[in-house]
Amino acid sequence: MYDRIFTANRAWVAKMLAEDEDFFEDLATDQAPDYLYIGCADSRVPANSIMGLKPGEVFVHRNIANCVPNTDINSHSVIQYAVEALKVKHIIVCGHYGCGGVQAAMQPKDLGLINGWLREIRDVFRLHRAELLDIADETERFKRLVELNVQEQCIHVIKTACVQKSFAATGYPIVHGWVFDLHDGLLRDLNIPFETILDEIREIYRLT
Ligand code: CO
Repeated sequence: MYDRIFTANRAWVAKMLAEDEDFFEDLATDQAPDYLYIGCADSRVPANSIMGLKPGEVFVHRNIANCVPNTDINSHSVIQYAVEALKVKHIIVCGHYGCGGVQAAMQPKDLGLINGWLREIRDVFRLHRAELLDIADETERFKRLVELNVQEQCIHVIKTACVQKSFAATGYPIVHGWVFDLHDGLLRDLNIPFETILDEIREIYRLT
């Protein structure tokens, strides 16, 4: 079972070389992806596969429930590198329905070390409490929290100095909030109304 990974790897190399004999030489030269994808670590949501992108085409950061907590040096380092060194054009925060991290945050339970991480999502719930409590159906409320978590994590991305400076200078990166549906495999753009949200962000979080 474990060894099959190496067999599959050799088959993948052969397939890539059949399509383009210089593929790995080009890959080793440099990376110039246009996209930074911030998604959930869930094994069912593999970034490159769902976007149909090859190695080299997307810079990827994944963690539980696609969070960008304000003091998380990991996600913030990824964003800074993507913006300042790679000069990505788009930053995508992608959540997914059925997210175990979001679901865990909805349960009144001590889960140990992960409590602090999940508090990020509880904060999202508190920010959107009225809307969420208006949704009587548990499944629908869960889905909406997944979407609102994406929205709030996008806002965390926009709060960063490197994103604000780059956007002011070049018009990039553009931030997008998406959600992936495990039931049909489709990506949906949440079309987050940043223009209305941004007024408040500009007022409070402006760094440039
Ligand atoms: Co998840």
